[in-house]
Amino acid sequence: MNYNIAVIKGDGIGPEIVDQALKVLGAVGGVYGHSFKYEEVLAGGAAIDAVGKALPAHTLDVCKASDAVLLGAVGGWKWDDLPGGERPETALLGLRRELGLFANIRPAMLFEELAGACPLRPELTAGGIDLVVVRELTGGIYFGERGVKQTEDMGEAAYDMEMYSEGEVRRIGVVAFDMARKRSKRLTSVDKANVLESSRLWRRVMTELAGDYPDVELSHLYVDNTAMQLIKNPRQFDVIVTSNMFGDILSDEASMITGSLGMLPSASLAASGVGMYEPSHGSAPKMTGLDTANPMATVLSAAMMLRYSAGLADEADAVENAIKAVLAEGYRTPDLFTEGKTKIGTSEAGDLIAARVKKTART
Ligand code: IPM
Ligand code: MG
Repeated sequence: MNYNIAVIKGDGIGPEIVDQALKVLGAVGGVYGHSFKYEEVLAGGAAIDAVGKALPAHTLDVCKASDAVLLGAVGGWKWDDLPGGERPETALLGLRRELGLFANIRPAMLFEELAGACPLRPELTAGGIDLVVVRELTGGIYFGERGVKQTEDMGEAAYDMEMYSEGEVRRIGVVAFDMARKRSKRLTSVDKANVLESSRLWRRVMTELAGDYPDVELSHLYVDNTAMQLIKNPRQFDVIVTSNMFGDILSDEASMITGSLGMLPSASLAASGVGMYEPSHGSAPKMTGLDTANPMATVLSAAMMLRYSAGLADEADAVENAIKAVLAEGYRTPDLFTEGKTKIGTSEAGDLIAARVKKTART
């Protein structure tokens, strides 16, 4: 199959981790006879430096015309002093909005091989952790009205508005219920309905939707309680659906219980089927160019691309199994390294995973 991928390497460790995903995709293409065509475009700080804008129109056009977008990470200190509306992160938010990527899927899986890297006590995670955060990605406070104004006696004030429509809640709810139906049939909707009007609407719409999914057990949890429960008893969760901001926070928390932020992939999907795939972590400017970053979240994101956008489930399995094999053989990037394991760099991790893809496919 021919497949067009817009590639945004981005800033910081972005280029080095994306290069590893491309290596692995190259191996997949070779083994399974697919031809992946890449078009590299700029976004974030790299685009600000090159053309003065975080999200150039050309980038957006190429992304819109592609089957999928593979992205590393954007942002860094260098651009931290720019005004809010010009920061590299606006490229990410702009891509999400313009491509209509309202559903963000962030699976947090504790690989058996990495049980030792989980900071929780072993009895809390025995049997493994396998949960998915379904985060609403184009609404809520990250996209609401915002501004700055002068108060009479308390100086300057700033505000950001959280607003959700029934339609926005329903469409992310459908994604989450469908996913729960395919998994353990348990769905937790997370809100702050004891305080926020927008959360009360969220809860009402989720409850109404549950009527269409009699086979899925829906429960509601406040976000503060969820943050606590994720540490206390993470195994109670399967699919979690929540708003943009709560999902941002809870997915970082969920990633850590899987051993490292460097293991959490993500897929952002639109109704049209187009998807953007990126690790859930950021650009880690401190680690830039040191060959120490863990590329696995990005490689796993490429696997999600194969599965969700390209419909290539076997190929996605091959990539995931290759990562498991590399971990089982004791190879660890520095974020996961413990005594007795073999420390590897970013590039070597990519080489090893690509080699395993070729090997699994032959056996
Ligand atoms: C994420 C990131 C982004 C977000 C930032 C960089 C804008 O934290 O994808 O989780 O908040 O969505
Ligand atoms: Mg985040």
